[in-house]
Amino acid sequence: MQKSNNKQVSVLMVCLGNICRSPLAEGILKQKLGTAGIAAKVDSAGTGDWHIGSAPHPDSQKVAKLNGINISDQRARQLQPTDFEHYDLIVFMDRENKKDGKKIAGTYWQEGKARLLLDSIPHTNLQDVPDPYFGGWDGFPIVYQLIDEACEALVEELSAFESR
Ligand code: 4NP
Repeated sequence: MQKSNNKQVSVLMVCLGNICRSPLAEGILKQKLGTAGIAAKVDSAGTGDWHIGSAPHPDSQKVAKLNGINISDQRARQLQPTDFEHYDLIVFMDRENKKDGKKIAGTYWQEGKARLLLDSIPHTNLQDVPDPYFGGWDGFPIVYQLIDEACEALVEELSAFESR
């Protein structure tokens, strides 16, 4: 990961709708970085445009709240090509999101800045955070735990990065 000098690290979490998974990833990462005392810019976006301006899905808000995190102020936005200029790391929830993100970014795409969230979890064969949108409530706590585990590992990485 490359970081420009004199700038706090910046991370953009990306899923499809920016209402279920990436708002959780944004909220969880912000909370963990805050606890670790690491200054960072964290945001989230979707590859799709259906939910622009919407608050996170009620079940994402609910599972976040059950875990002590308030994500109700977040509003969905779409991934922009210039996000690749403005963020050090663009973290996709699944392989389809990464493929779509590459199409949106066009010439702005930087492979070195793009990764899958679950790449952060060592010793797992899982590559994609499942999309809970088309299922019921039960999917949300499962997705929360996966994202939480990956964000924990990401904070370790960012903490080593910050002290460089
Ligand atoms: P997300 O979930 O990508 O985790 O926010 C979805 C939200 C909305 C839709 C699909 C997935 N949708 O088709 O509207």
